[in-house]
Parts: sequence; structure tokens; C-alpha cells
Amino acid sequence: MNYRHAFHAGNHADVLKHLVLVQCLEALKRKDTPFAMLDTHAGRGLYDLSSSEAERSPEWRDGVDKLRAWAEAPAPVRAYLDAIGDGPAYPGSPLLALRAVRPQDRLMLCELHPEEFALLRQACATGSNVQCHQRDGYEALIALTPFAERRGLVLIDPPYEATDETVRALAALKGALKRFRQGVYLWWRPLKNEALLDRADAELAGGAAAPSMLRADLWIDRPQAEGKLNGSSMLVINPPFGLAEALRGALPALADRLSLGASGYRLRE
Ligand SMILES: C[S@@+](CC[C@H](N)C(=O)[O-])C[C@H]1O[C@@H](n2cnc3c(N)ncnc32)[C@H](O)[C@@H]1O
Repeated sequence: MNYRHAFHAGNHADVLKHLVLVQCLEALKRKDTPFAMLDTHAGRGLYDLSSSEAERSPEWRDGVDKLRAWAEAPAPVRAYLDAIGDGPAYPGSPLLALRAVRPQDRLMLCELHPEEFALLRQACATGSNVQCHQRDGYEALIALTPFAERRGLVLIDPPYEATDETVRALAALKGALKRFRQGVYLWWRPLKNEALLDRADAELAGGAAAPSMLRADLWIDRPQAEGKLNGSSMLVINPPFGLAEALRGALPALADRLSLGASGYRLRE
């Protein structure tokens, strides 16, 4: 486990992932009834963009930094910027969720790496409705679903260090869907091997009880199979009402604003 998200925090992939997450959390809060969220690969929760890691790999300069002074930002981008706040501290998915949940909601955060986990606990273990687990996120996905609240969101955001990570995440997702069919699932993937992603999506869509799905891809330069990550893909299962429209409004402008060359986007409903 060598992956450290501190080298990538606030990059274009975080922008897409966290913008979608903010939209989905807002949608869940349209009802007063409680919901739960499980973050299977939580990371440390808060990233200092002036840290040595972020300085050595300033990916955030081609990501969130380009959005901050954007007067014409579309509403979903504005909502994302409001959620992350100003300053050098960039919130990861656990902190964004912690800021969004209400007293009646519940947050479960899983992180396997000991140092990242210690930082996660410091950053997030403030509320009585937050549980931090140092455990395998895929195992937790099966153990902790279905949610007692019968509504909620699962974020699957693995590091993709292992070559079989997509296959492993797909299997875990299929297992969770059998147990908790109505959950909203967000699955982040690097846009590298597109054929592999298409096959994974087809497998999910082709199941006996095919869930409703939305896929949003954003690339800031031509996606390439090896080397630098130029784009990413968010698969949303059971997308909340309004998400597709929000993304239709945000993705074209984001692709332009973040462009380093051959940028683009794709929205598949
Ligand atoms: C991409 S980062 C997570 C970023 C975070 N979701 C965010 O948006 O701020 C992936 C994290 O998963 C952790 N990790 C790796 N394998 C894991 C596993 N099997 N279960 C739980 N966490 C794992 C890594 O240590 C790393 O911190």
C-alpha cells in the first residue's frame, strides 16, 4: 500500500468525484428521514495543499485551483466550491460528508493504511454519528450493508495500485447491490482502460435486476492507457433525481476550464 492521496488531492479527478458527491448528499437531504453513508476507501480526510507532498506533486493547480476565481461557475461547481471552502486545507470525501450529514444521519469511514487512518480519526471522529474503521473497505461493504436506515450512499474510491482493482471493486459492488439494492453507489475509476470500464458497466447493467445508472467522464487532456492520469469516470448507481441535469450543466464548462489540450466529457444515462 504505497498510494498516498496527498499527492493527488484537489486534482481534476477529485473535482469530478467530489462535485458528484456533494450533489448526491444534497439530494439525500431533501428528505428529513435519516440516511447513512459508507466511504469504503476514505483516505485521511483533510489535505494541506501547502504540504511537501502537495508541493512535490501540485496536481491541484490543474484542478481545484483553476476553479476558485471562476465568477461564471455553473451552480453545481459553485456548490462544490462552497463545500470545500477557501484556504489551503482541501477536504477529502470524509470531511465533505461530515460537513453535510445531519444529526439524524450516520457516517461510516473505512481506511486500511495505519498512518492515514490515524489522521482520518483526528480529522473526523468528532460526531457521535461518525464511525471510523481501520478495515478493508470491500469487506466492510458487505458487512455494513444494508443500512438500517434503508437509504443512503456508498462511495467506492480505491487507489488502483493493484492490477485487479477494477475487477475486485466490481465484484464487491455486485455483492452489495444484492444486499442493498436501493442504495446510491458512487464508483470512481481512472479513465485509462476504457474497454474494461465499458465491460464493467455492461455487466452491472445486464444483471437480472438492472439498476438505474449514470456515468460521468471528464478528461483534461487525451486519456492515455499508461502514465499520467488525464481523466476519470464516475459511475453512479441509482442516481438521485436532478443529478443528470446538474452534470449536463457543469461538465462542458468544467472540461473547458480545466483543459490542458484535448479535454472533453461524456455523460451516459
Ligand atoms: C483514492 S484514496 C481515497 C480518497 C478519498 N476517498 C477522498 O475522496 O478524499 C484511496 C485510499 O484507500 C486506502 N486503501 C487502500 N486499500 C484499501 C482497502 N482495501 N480498504 C480500505 N482502504 C484502502 C488508501 O490507503 C487510500 O488512502
